[in-house]
Order: sequence, then structure tokens, then C-alpha cells
Amino acid sequence: MNKHVCKAVFPAAGLGTRFLPATKALPKEMMPLVDKPIIQYGVEEALASGCDQIIIVTGRGKIAIEDHFDVSYELEKMLEERGKADLLAIVRQISEMVHIAYVRQKEAMGLGHAVLMARELVGDQPFAVILADDIIDAEVPCLKQMIEVYNETGCSVLATQVVEGPAISSYGVLDATTVPGQWNGRLFEVKDLVEKPRPQDAPSNLAIIGRYILTPTIFEMLASTEKGAGGELQLTDGLKQLLKKENIYGFTFQGKRHDTGDKLGFLKATVEFALKRDDLGKDFREYLKTLEL
Ligand code: UTP
Repeated sequence: MNKHVCKAVFPAAGLGTRFLPATKALPKEMMPLVDKPIIQYGVEEALASGCDQIIIVTGRGKIAIEDHFDVSYELEKMLEERGKADLLAIVRQISEMVHIAYVRQKEAMGLGHAVLMARELVGDQPFAVILADDIIDAEVPCLKQMIEVYNETGCSVLATQVVEGPAISSYGVLDATTVPGQWNGRLFEVKDLVEKPRPQDAPSNLAIIGRYILTPTIFEMLASTEKGAGGELQLTDGLKQLLKKENIYGFTFQGKRHDTGDKLGFLKATVEFALKRDDLGKDFREYLKTLEL
């Protein structure tokens, strides 16, 4: 078994209902934060973390994702003829960035099912899962931080974030104990996982967010897990099975997470990313100051 985490799976076959009607024909993963599709942020994070084999799980209506990472011959030719060297460089850099393998999930049967679709492409090695909706702004890429934890522990690692109050009910939540030592109280040994608990039933305030390092044992677990409500196979259910065989760790990464799968989260991320841009930040800040809020 290859012990290095060099493959990253991007489940991108969901229906994106929270963003209808925008997502009727446009994949949610292609919605731009300022001018870059959200999935590109995730792919760049994977590459910056040493994962250079990218697997995207797509479905019907997701062809724009494949086109985005492919060569755009007509566009490149036109930009070349018009002498737009800077735009040409941006367009070329995307298709040259990485080689991507695609696998289809024929029906949106849950996140666990989407991950299972990548089984043959991943093979018998640990791998990363990135949910592109979660954009993480961090000095050291979130996935890189998690791979360091995996390299120390050899076990699956789930990215967690502290969520206070009733909002915890939107997440998978850890029942876990802190691991003392080098991770400054940010590493947790998972005892159990509870999907979307009522606030009063939440075993902790540690919410699982969209980054995972998983051992290949997860595939066996998912393949033998019964589908749950709505005929969906949830990743959390597979993780609960995995926990019976292997240790799993939760890790509170350093960085800021933006939930761009949610409308308000998407708007907040757009404002923050625009303010940070060299070419836009100053003018945008001035504009925001003129608003009567
Ligand atoms: P979400 O829970 O965000 O669902 O999926 P969604 O369909 O994308 O969006 P909403 O909630 O309807 O607005 C989390 C991740 O899992 C993928 C999604 O593409 C997203 O990246 N997913 C989900 C699949 O690939 N297949 C599925 O069957 C379900």
C-alpha cells in the first residue's frame, strides 16, 4: 500500500438545490468567487498540499467542470490574435495546472455513495476528500495540515471546526477526547459521530467540515453500509463503521472556513475575497463605505 496521500477526490455530483435557480444549468462548483470557480480554489489547495492526482466525481449537467480544466482552443486562439497575453496566461495556466480523472455518479445518492464511486481510481491507498463548497483561507493549506497529522498517526483525519449554538445541528458532530501533546489541543480521538444532532443532543461543539483524509478501508465500509433516509448513502455512516476497525482523528485546522454552499456564506466569502484583491480591494472598500448600512 502506498502510504503517501497523493490523490484528492472532489465529490461534485450533488444537485446544489440551495442555489436554485442558478444551479439549474450551472454546476454549483462553477459559481465564481470574484472571478474564479469555487472548485478551482479546492484544486489549487490540493496541489499546494502535494496531492497532484485529482479525481472529480461528476454527474449529469456537470460538463462545465470538465471544460473548465480542459484546453479551450478557440478562446486561446482568439486571445492570442488579439494580443491579450495576460488573459491567455490565466486561461492556459488552468489547463496546464493538473491532470484530472473523472468518474460519474449516475444518481445523487449521497456523499458516501459519491466517494465510493472513486474506489477504483483511488485503489489501495490513503486519499483526501475535498468538498469544494468549503473554501479555506489559510497560511498553510488546510489539507497540508491534515496530511501532516495523517503522516504522524496513519489514521483517517476529519477536519473540524468549533461551532457554537444551534448552528451545530447542520453538521456531523464528533464525540471525541483531546489528544495531549504536540497539536496544542487541536487533535481529537473520535469515539463516535452524530449526524445533525439537536443542539441539546450534540456531544461536542466540534463540527465536521469538508476536508477528510481517509484510509482505503472506508471503501469496504461504504460498500457494506445500508442506504439511509431518502435512499442516500452518507459518508458519516461509513465513518461510523470505519471507527469499529480503525482509529479516526478529528483535527481543528488553522485557517478561516467559508461555507460557499450556503447563500449567506457565499456572499460573505465574495466580499472578503474581493477586499483582499490587489486589483479590486481598494475601490471595493471605498464603495462599501458609501453604503448606508
Ligand atoms: P451537499 O450536502 O452540499 O449537497 O453535498 P448539494 O447537492 O451539493 O447541495 P444542496 O444542499 O442541494 O444545495 C456536499 C458535497 O457532496 C457532493 C456535492 O456535490 C457536494 O460537493 N455530493 C452530494 C455528491 O457528489 N453526490 C451526492 O449524491 C451528494
